[in-house]
Amino acid sequence: MSPAPLTLLGIETSCDETAAAVIRGYPELPRQNGPVADGQREILSNLVLSQFDEHRPYGGIVPEIASRAHILSLDRLIQAAIEKAGCGWEGLDGVAATAGPGLIGGVMVGLVTGKAIAAARAIPLVAVNHLEGHALSVRLLQPLAFPYLLLLVSGGHCQLLEVRGAGAYARLGGSLDDAAGEAFDKTAKLLGLGYPGGPAIEKAAKTGNPARFALPRPMLGRAGCDFSFSGLKTAVRHMTPAPERLSDQDKADMAASFQAAVADVVIDRCRNAMTLFRQRHTPQQAHTLVVAGGVAANLALRTALGRLCDREGFQLATPPLDLCTDNAAMIGWAGIERLALGLSDPLDVTARARWPLYS
Ligand code: KG4
Ligand code: ZN
Repeated sequence: MSPAPLTLLGIETSCDETAAAVIRGYPELPRQNGPVADGQREILSNLVLSQFDEHRPYGGIVPEIASRAHILSLDRLIQAAIEKAGCGWEGLDGVAATAGPGLIGGVMVGLVTGKAIAAARAIPLVAVNHLEGHALSVRLLQPLAFPYLLLLVSGGHCQLLEVRGAGAYARLGGSLDDAAGEAFDKTAKLLGLGYPGGPAIEKAAKTGNPARFALPRPMLGRAGCDFSFSGLKTAVRHMTPAPERLSDQDKADMAASFQAAVADVVIDRCRNAMTLFRQRHTPQQAHTLVVAGGVAANLALRTALGRLCDREGFQLATPPLDLCTDNAAMIGWAGIERLALGLSDPLDVTARARWPLYS
């Protein structure tokens, strides 16, 4: 007889998205390298309330505004997620809330709410690392066994990791300065393309000439898997006059040149990570590169990574676009993966602004 599925409420408030979701999945999860059965997990609801309008006048995220916006909308969003899921409060087997890393005020709002629900309903609380949410999100929708290579590229993070299981990560490299998404956001600001920057750069780049501006490719050709984006951003600043003096074509050309430089660097770093992964694992094991985090929504980058994977004998696995950017479905799913391993957290667990995935 197969075990009953677990139904979890996921809560995400670590940045500028207030999100609540209800996920159902079977606790019988694949062991390391084992097969993953299809259709064993379901997103019953997945609601995301972006705060773009609140932050747009400031050209970036204002932490205090973010926490206040989470407070104002989270309880109603959770209620709506439970109603949409149709499971009722009594149908929840647990609650998973992001406990870091992120903007601490926002993280506290979501975690305290999760604790209150866990206490009131007498169900387990799982304090989820936001990065683990991104790292495991792909397994919510497709059968993918551990271990796999993970490129995590978001507004706050840029890392290459080997994912060996829930809670088991090995770091291969990361950014020495800015995160990839941060570089997109800052470049968009310099070009007057608005906030959030990543989608704006991608849109502008579609009509731009990527060869017009000779931007640097920091770290290209170096050993290892580290990244650096601050020099690239500075080069954009030096080559770009004030936005009011830029034509739409200038903006498009710079956006395309910037996006091409980022892609070249990311491809080069991923190639080194693939070499390391190959050395650690037998050819019989599946070789998969998972790309997650907000920047993974970038189709130009996905295409370039797809070509790299074809050349290097890797499968490319990317969550659908709405699961790349911040959401609570990935937090609920990470909660199920952890609960399945017998991992839950006490009600005095603390929110953490910094929380690396690896130890
Ligand atoms: O994962 P995420 O939603 O939040 C964090 O955990 O940081 O990532 C947000 C980041 C932002 O920097 C945003 O500009 C970037 O992801 N982003 C993109 C695209 N969509 C979102 N960057 C490049 N191209 C995109 N299409
Ligand atoms: Zn994120």
